[in-house]
Amino acid sequence: MGMGMGMGMAGPAPGAGSRHDGKRQHRRRFRSRRATGLGPRHGMTMRASIVGGSGYAGGELLRLLLGHPEFELAGVTSRRLAGSFVHFTHPNLRGHTDLRYSTLDELERCDLLFLCVPHGSAAGDIDVYSGLAPRIVDLSADFRLRSSSAYEDWYGASHPAPEWLDRFVYGLPELDREAVAGASRVSGVGCNATATLLGLLPLLEPEPAERGLVDWRRGVVTELKVGSSEGGASSSDASHHPERSGVVRSFRPTGHRHTAEVEQALAVRGVEAAGRIHLSVTSVEMVRGVLATSHLFLADAANARAAERELFRACRSFCRQHPFVRLVKNRRGIHRYPEPKILAGSNHAEIGFELDPGTGRLVVLCAIDNLMKGAAGNAVQCANLMHGFSEVEGLSFPGLHPL
Ligand SMILES: NC(=O)c1ccc[n+]([C@@H]2O[C@H](COP(=O)([O-])OP(=O)(O)OC[C@H]3O[C@@H](n4cnc5c(N)ncnc54)[C@H](OP(=O)(O)O)[C@@H]3O)[C@@H](O)[C@H]2O)c1
Repeated sequence: MGMGMGMGMAGPAPGAGSRHDGKRQHRRRFRSRRATGLGPRHGMTMRASIVGGSGYAGGELLRLLLGHPEFELAGVTSRRLAGSFVHFTHPNLRGHTDLRYSTLDELERCDLLFLCVPHGSAAGDIDVYSGLAPRIVDLSADFRLRSSSAYEDWYGASHPAPEWLDRFVYGLPELDREAVAGASRVSGVGCNATATLLGLLPLLEPEPAERGLVDWRRGVVTELKVGSSEGGASSSDASHHPERSGVVRSFRPTGHRHTAEVEQALAVRGVEAAGRIHLSVTSVEMVRGVLATSHLFLADAANARAAERELFRACRSFCRQHPFVRLVKNRRGIHRYPEPKILAGSNHAEIGFELDPGTGRLVVLCAIDNLMKGAAGNAVQCANLMHGFSEVEGLSFPGLHPL
């Protein structure tokens, strides 16, 4: 069992004993894991390891797996920090684990391997990684695109292992939950692609007839406002505090790589999206978070009132099917639309919309925490599905307010 210190840990089941019994059990588990740094193996507990655990996505995965009741942390690698305690780089985990980083060579075979390494290196070493575990969740961009020529177009290099592309499933459960559940290798999803897609997919719910609501031929323009942790833990000139603090800086007004994933995913849902998805990414003053604001046009601008009813129906239907997506659309108050700040540490995506009846312009909004639904949280959600666990296991942390 996980040691139960993670934020997503559920409380004891009703009738399972007093609160104090629960706390005592929790302390016992905590001590036994501290003794070894790994924790005991129980019946069906799955042993999971992380490659690239010293980075931001790896740190978030560590936090989630330490609180997960079905996964046990078997190992975590860092080339630079092998031998150091993981709380050296992830101080929020101090006292929660005595685990130390290892080298890749020291990693033992396990049930599930998470890859949190930069793009290019996941594919470069995929033969080694696939020898370490029967199941892999790769957070990098290496196995997201189905075509090696699309990879070359968007990433500017030939794919290091094109024969592996069709062995991975694109890991967005809200796009194809069954495919993820049946896969042994899953790619993560770009955080900007996640926010864009979770805003757009409800427009394709549930019957093809509803697709007539939006004129997809007019294209989609999506403005993404992103926090600094998207760039990972390594510093650069752009992330130097005096340069990054307080900015509203156009980072990639055109040509963002996640465009390719969004087009590919929409094509799965029958939308001819190639060349019609336009992403612009702006760095803003946040550490975590993405807000995607997509602009589209109704097919029939004269019927905006009917379209609004359809949109409500489609969004509610989408949220009912997907436990980590919720609709935010209030008439009053300050939290009327999706807001990344509310989601820090949560695996939820918030979606919302507004219609301009005069012009037929539809504004679709989606907010996520890039390190959770945009990376580690989604990876655990996929891992839950791949192992037949409840999809929401270990992911119940509701976020903090105020923050
Ligand atoms: N940050 C986000 O919001 C986000 C969202 C979605 C997906 N992702 C993807 O998730 C992956 C990790 O992102 P991140 O933000 O956590 O990056 P990061 O903070 O820069 O961490 C990268 C990690 O990879 C390790 N590493 C670097 N090169 C390696 C190599 N050749 N072989 C093995 N390990 C290597 C580094 O550790 P050592 O140098 O210590 O070995 C470090 O632990 C990336 O592919 C990224 O695109 C990130």
